Amino acid sequence: MSGIVAGKVAVVTGGGSGIGRAACEIFAREGASVVVGDINIEGGEETVRLIEQAGGKAVFVKCDVSQAADCEALVNTAVVNFGSVDCAFNNAGVEGESCKLADASEENFMLNYKVNILGVFLCMKYQIKQMLQQENGGAIVNTASDAGLIGVKNLGQYSAAKHAVVGLTKSAALDYATKKIRVNAVCPGPIRTPMLQRIFDESPKVGEAMIAAQPVKRLGEASEIGDAAVYLCSDSASYITGHALPVDGGYMAT
Ligand SMILES: NC(=O)c1ccc[n+]([C@@H]2O[C@H](COP(=O)([O-])OP(=O)(O)OC[C@H]3O[C@@H](n4cnc5c(N)ncnc54)[C@H](O)[C@@H]3O)[C@@H](O)[C@H]2O)c1
Repeated sequence: MSGIVAGKVAVVTGGGSGIGRAACEIFAREGASVVVGDINIEGGEETVRLIEQAGGKAVFVKCDVSQAADCEALVNTAVVNFGSVDCAFNNAGVEGESCKLADASEENFMLNYKVNILGVFLCMKYQIKQMLQQENGGAIVNTASDAGLIGVKNLGQYSAAKHAVVGLTKSAALDYATKKIRVNAVCPGPIRTPMLQRIFDESPKVGEAMIAAQPVKRLGEASEIGDAAVYLCSDSASYITGHALPVDGGYMAT
């Protein structure tokens, strides 16, 4: 099997939809065995089916990233089925509600906290424990967002959670820099996925304004984030760690 992650084992959260599914398919195409984690069983199983149909290897495990036992089981599934965890893409996320801060609910804050921050922390915790036992360590990529680098109107809690993902990424990269474990983040701009579609459905005007604000005047595709994540997990990125990479058609340059 050839490819930039040939022979490696990858775990991907949120692998049942959007960016996560695209990344799973790219990992498999580039030669990795893939463990697809998602809270959505139907979506996760469909991703496995798509990978197998294309000749790749994948298994699905139901995983709620806000639950420590599920994050541990995700890692164990990879080890039992394929022998290691070489690459991890911690990508599961929720957008939550869109409103000004004083109107936002405590419930939405906790949802953002549990899935977007606690989930990344728990996944990294068990992945790193496993990678420390492996001769070649491993590489982790977390999905943050442009909203993890700048503030975003009406998305304060989401933006706070994504800033936290960048902080966790950079700090973990320093903790394990000498242990052959690299930790990076991708910061997507607006990407055509079911999540973005939900935001556009709620407010078509927001959608139009988002595209108009993009230097490239188009949305990104899920595969464009998947490509970046797989590259950062590959040995081609061997000197890159602690980086939060905008993949956003140039938006962060404005
Ligand atoms: N689409 C965008 O424009 C955009 C922009 C910036 C960042 N992001 C981030 O990219 C990531 C993927 O988003 P997407 O656009 O593909 O969204 P999506 O809604 O299409 O996919 C998200 C996936 O995460 C899963 N998920 C949700 N909660 C979970 C949980 N507790 N445990 C496990 N899985 C869970 C969902 O079931 C779904 O399959 C998210 O972290 C999101 O915040 C997306």
